[in-house]
Amino acid sequence: MINCKMIDMPAFAGEYGQLNAIEGGHNVPFKIQRVYYITKVPKNVMRGFHSHRALEQVLLCVNGSVKIRLKTPSQEEVVELNDPSKGLYIGYMVWREMFDFTKGAVLLVLASQHYTETDYIRDYAQYLQESRKYFKEEDLKK
Ligand code: TYD
Repeated sequence: MINCKMIDMPAFAGEYGQLNAIEGGHNVPFKIQRVYYITKVPKNVMRGFHSHRALEQVLLCVNGSVKIRLKTPSQEEVVELNDPSKGLYIGYMVWREMFDFTKGAVLLVLASQHYTETDYIRDYAQYLQESRKYFKEEDLKK
């Protein structure tokens, strides 16, 4: 999936449990400016339904599992996050929808910028218009 990738977070696991280490600029490819987490999502609730223009994020499901639908104008993929050692990097201009949160699921999100509502694209038609232009310009740079 364009502008997305899975990242392995080093795990220190043993008879006392498991610790995962995350370092901004190392295993997360940006300086972490913001952290938030999503919990207590009722059954059958879907979240997200937006893209960001200039924000990078890494999503980790540190308890339970959740599915993330990723879309660009030409691709669509569903990724299941169910392992605290696996992060999903989402770069610019990727539409995301989060669903099938299990009971007690905790979705941890690391973000490259502070919260800015103007960076969101929440309307899908607007997303298609801007992202088609964005990806065409990215192709031209190659
Ligand atoms: P939103 O990003 O729409 O959540 P989701 O995509 O998971 O459905 O954010 C929900 C609300 O929380 C919205 O009113 C904005 C607020 N919010 C902040 O104030 N700071 C943040 O860092 C985030 C991510 C959201």
